[in-house]
Amino acid sequence: MHQMKKLIAANWKMNKAVPEAVSAAEELKKLVKNAKNAEVVVCPPFTALEAVGKELKKSNIKLGAQNMHFEGSGAYTGDISPLMLKSIGCEYVILGHSERREFFKEDDMLINKKVASALSHKLKPILCVGENLEERNRHWTQEVLEKQLNNCLQNVTKKQMKNVTIAYEPVWAISRGDPNHKAATSKDAEEGHALIRNFLSIIFDRKTAENTRIIYGGSMKPENAKDLLSRKGIDGGLVGNASLNAKSFAEIVKAAEN
Ligand code: 13P
Repeated sequence: MHQMKKLIAANWKMNKAVPEAVSAAEELKKLVKNAKNAEVVVCPPFTALEAVGKELKKSNIKLGAQNMHFEGSGAYTGDISPLMLKSIGCEYVILGHSERREFFKEDDMLINKKVASALSHKLKPILCVGENLEERNRHWTQEVLEKQLNNCLQNVTKKQMKNVTIAYEPVWAISRGDPNHKAATSKDAEEGHALIRNFLSIIFDRKTAENTRIIYGGSMKPENAKDLLSRKGIDGGLVGNASLNAKSFAEIVKAAEN
């Protein structure tokens, strides 16, 4: 039976300039200082990564980026490399977020290169997968999840999977900043996680699938975190809007601790 520390990650998206980011990190650090049963990660925008990283040194909060290029360096105007992220103490990197797929036309092949690059640079990818509303209404959820996982995890080994987290982010449940947006029900989320874990056991094996952390993202907030996190196979959360407020995010961490 798989039993692992829950991962609660804040995806601040394109929010918070440096001073605001640092003060949020400072507040959060105090609020979650006793968290032991949950692993806490904060993913600020690139410009605030270094300053937030400094603020979080000697805390129990880890640093993550929201994206990266797959090359270590080169002529890629406007992009950020895994080496740069490593050099400022990043441990995690979110890859394949639906907002990157939708607004920046990132496809599975590109995301696969990024996953491979992250792993070879010893960064832990949080790989996002999830169906959109149309796909869900057409009952294509399973097909979409399997295609994304199959493509994005090409050439990733069972051993490397120890460092990969999958985030199930049904696109229709993502708040896009609306605090009243509806999350997936915990039952729907549990079903999505089961589909993902089952498919991982097909492309890898059962043990690898059971040991892979699969976290839920899409309007997770203090009000629904406990319910979602108590469901079988939900190993944490990737939190957008509710993570912008340190107190709300700390409440979600608390829900994961129990
Ligand atoms: P919300 O929590 O705002 O729905 O965002 C989820 C998400 O996209 C996290 O990556």
